[in-house]
Amino acid sequence: MKKSVLFVCLGNICRSPACEGICRKLYGDKLIIDSAGTCREHLGQSPDSRSIRVCDKNGIDIRQQRARQISSGDWTKFDVIAALDSSVLSDLNYDKPSNATAKLVMFNHPKGVADPYYCSNAEDGFGRMFETISKAMPDFVKEHGLI
Ligand code: 4NP
Repeated sequence: MKKSVLFVCLGNICRSPACEGICRKLYGDKLIIDSAGTCREHLGQSPDSRSIRVCDKNGIDIRQQRARQISSGDWTKFDVIAALDSSVLSDLNYDKPSNATAKLVMFNHPKGVADPYYCSNAEDGFGRMFETISKAMPDFVKEHGLI
Protein backbone atom coordinates (compact mmCIF):
# COMPACT_ATOMS: atom_id res chain seq x y z
CA MET A 1 0.00 0.00 0.00
CA LYS A 2 1.24 3.49 -0.83
CA LYS A 3 2.35 5.63 2.09
CA SER A 4 0.82 9.09 2.43
CA VAL A 5 2.07 12.53 3.43
CA LEU A 6 0.30 15.82 4.14
CA PHE A 7 2.37 19.02 4.02
CA VAL A 8 0.99 21.78 6.24
CA CYS A 9 1.83 25.50 6.37
CA LEU A 10 -0.18 28.50 7.55
CA GLY A 11 -2.16 29.57 4.49
CA ASN A 12 -1.75 26.61 2.09
CA ILE A 13 -0.97 29.09 -0.68
CA CYS A 14 2.85 29.46 -0.62
CA ARG A 15 5.00 26.75 0.99
CA SER A 16 2.88 23.61 1.25
CA PRO A 17 1.55 23.85 -2.34
CA ALA A 18 5.18 24.02 -3.52
CA CYS A 19 6.01 21.01 -1.30
CA GLU A 20 3.09 19.10 -2.76
CA GLY A 21 4.17 19.94 -6.33
CA ILE A 22 7.83 19.09 -5.77
CA CYS A 23 7.04 15.85 -3.93
CA ARG A 24 4.55 14.88 -6.65
CA LYS A 25 7.14 15.46 -9.36
CA LEU A 26 9.74 13.33 -7.55
CA TYR A 27 7.57 10.60 -5.99
CA GLY A 28 4.07 11.02 -7.41
CA ASP A 29 3.94 7.39 -8.58
CA LYS A 30 4.99 6.04 -5.17
CA LEU A 31 3.19 8.21 -2.62
CA ILE A 32 -0.17 9.76 -1.81
CA ILE A 33 0.55 13.48 -1.42
CA ASP A 34 -1.59 16.42 -0.30
CA SER A 35 -1.23 19.80 1.40
CA ALA A 36 -3.29 21.97 3.77
CA GLY A 37 -3.07 25.07 5.95
CA THR A 38 -3.78 25.71 9.61
CA CYS A 39 -5.69 28.96 9.01
CA ARG A 40 -8.96 29.50 7.15
CA GLU A 41 -8.05 32.79 5.53
CA HIS A 42 -7.31 31.55 2.01
CA LEU A 43 -9.80 28.67 1.73
CA GLY A 44 -10.52 27.71 -1.88
CA GLN A 45 -7.86 30.01 -3.32
CA SER A 46 -5.26 29.12 -5.92
CA PRO A 47 -1.65 29.15 -4.78
CA ASP A 48 0.05 32.56 -4.49
CA SER A 49 1.13 33.76 -7.95
CA ARG A 50 4.76 33.94 -6.77
CA SER A 51 4.66 30.26 -5.76
CA ILE A 52 3.05 29.35 -9.07
CA ARG A 53 5.79 31.26 -10.91
CA VAL A 54 8.78 29.71 -9.15
CA CYS A 55 7.33 26.21 -9.56
CA ASP A 56 6.54 26.90 -13.22
CA LYS A 57 10.12 27.98 -13.86
CA ASN A 58 11.15 24.58 -12.54
CA GLY A 59 8.70 22.61 -14.66
CA ILE A 60 6.07 22.07 -11.97
CA ASP A 61 2.46 23.18 -12.45
CA ILE A 62 0.63 23.83 -9.16
CA ARG A 63 -2.19 25.99 -10.63
CA GLN A 64 -4.88 23.37 -10.03
CA GLN A 65 -4.34 23.25 -6.26
CA ARG A 66 -6.92 24.94 -3.97
CA ALA A 67 -6.26 25.97 -0.38
CA ARG A 68 -7.94 23.95 2.36
CA GLN A 69 -7.67 23.77 6.11
CA ILE A 70 -6.41 20.63 7.85
CA SER A 71 -9.35 18.59 9.17
CA SER A 72 -9.65 16.07 11.99
CA GLY A 73 -9.93 13.22 9.45
CA ASP A 74 -6.46 14.00 8.12
CA TRP A 75 -4.96 12.78 11.38
CA THR A 76 -6.03 9.20 10.71
CA LYS A 77 -5.81 9.34 6.91
CA PHE A 78 -2.12 10.24 6.49
CA ASP A 79 0.98 8.35 7.64
CA VAL A 80 3.00 11.53 8.04
CA ILE A 81 1.91 15.13 8.65
CA ALA A 82 4.78 17.52 7.98
CA ALA A 83 4.71 21.05 9.44
CA LEU A 84 6.62 23.64 7.44
CA ASP A 85 7.91 25.59 10.45
CA SER A 86 8.05 25.46 14.23
CA SER A 87 5.01 27.68 14.78
CA VAL A 88 2.85 25.51 12.51
CA LEU A 89 4.25 22.47 14.35
CA SER A 90 3.19 23.81 17.74
CA ASP A 91 -0.28 24.78 16.44
CA LEU A 92 -0.71 21.27 15.03
CA ASN A 93 0.52 19.67 18.26
CA TYR A 94 -2.10 21.67 20.13
CA ASP A 95 -4.94 20.70 17.77
CA LYS A 96 -3.92 17.07 17.31
CA PRO A 97 -6.92 14.85 18.17
CA SER A 98 -6.47 12.05 20.70
CA ASN A 99 -7.14 9.35 18.09
CA ALA A 100 -4.46 10.65 15.71
CA THR A 101 -2.37 7.93 14.05
CA ALA A 102 -0.29 10.18 11.78
CA LYS A 103 3.30 10.88 12.74
CA LEU A 104 3.67 14.65 13.19
CA VAL A 105 7.10 15.93 12.12
CA MET A 106 8.77 19.11 10.96
CA PHE A 107 9.90 19.33 7.34
CA ASN A 108 13.60 20.29 7.03
CA HIS A 109 14.08 19.94 10.78
CA PRO A 110 15.18 21.99 12.72
CA LYS A 111 15.02 25.05 10.46
CA GLY A 112 11.79 24.36 8.60
CA VAL A 113 11.03 26.56 5.59
CA ALA A 114 10.85 30.32 6.15
CA ASP A 115 7.51 31.95 5.34
CA PRO A 116 8.11 33.94 2.11
CA TYR A 117 4.68 35.67 2.11
CA TYR A 118 5.84 39.05 3.43
CA CYS A 119 9.31 38.91 1.86
CA SER A 120 10.20 42.36 0.49
CA ASN A 121 12.06 40.88 -2.45
CA ALA A 122 9.46 38.39 -3.57
CA GLU A 123 11.51 36.60 -6.19
CA ASP A 124 14.43 36.01 -3.79
CA GLY A 125 12.16 34.79 -1.00
CA PHE A 126 10.27 32.36 -3.21
CA GLY A 127 13.44 31.22 -4.99
CA ARG A 128 14.99 30.40 -1.62
CA MET A 129 11.82 28.62 -0.57
CA PHE A 130 11.89 26.45 -3.71
CA GLU A 131 15.60 25.63 -3.25
CA THR A 132 15.16 24.73 0.41
CA ILE A 133 12.22 22.43 -0.27
CA SER A 134 13.86 20.74 -3.26
CA LYS A 135 17.08 20.07 -1.37
CA ALA A 136 15.33 18.74 1.73
CA MET A 137 12.75 16.50 0.00
CA PRO A 138 14.84 13.36 -0.75
CA ASP A 139 16.15 13.11 2.83
CA PHE A 140 12.70 13.85 4.21
CA VAL A 141 10.98 10.96 2.40
CA LYS A 142 13.74 8.52 3.37
CA GLU A 143 14.01 9.66 6.99
CA HIS A 144 10.31 9.09 7.60
CA GLY A 145 10.09 5.78 5.78
CA LEU A 146 7.85 7.11 3.02
CA ILE A 147 10.07 5.65 0.28
P1 4NP B 1 2.04 29.90 3.57
O1 4NP B 1 2.28 31.48 3.50
O2 4NP B 1 1.75 29.58 5.00
O3 4NP B 1 3.35 29.34 3.11
O4 4NP B 1 0.89 29.58 2.63
C1 4NP B 1 1.40 32.42 4.04
C2 4NP B 1 0.24 32.72 3.37
C3 4NP B 1 -0.60 33.70 3.88
C4 4NP B 1 -0.30 34.32 5.07
C5 4NP B 1 0.85 33.98 5.74
C6 4NP B 1 1.70 33.02 5.23
N1 4NP B 1 -1.15 35.31 5.57
O5 4NP B 1 -0.82 35.90 6.62
O6 4NP B 1 -2.20 35.61 4.98
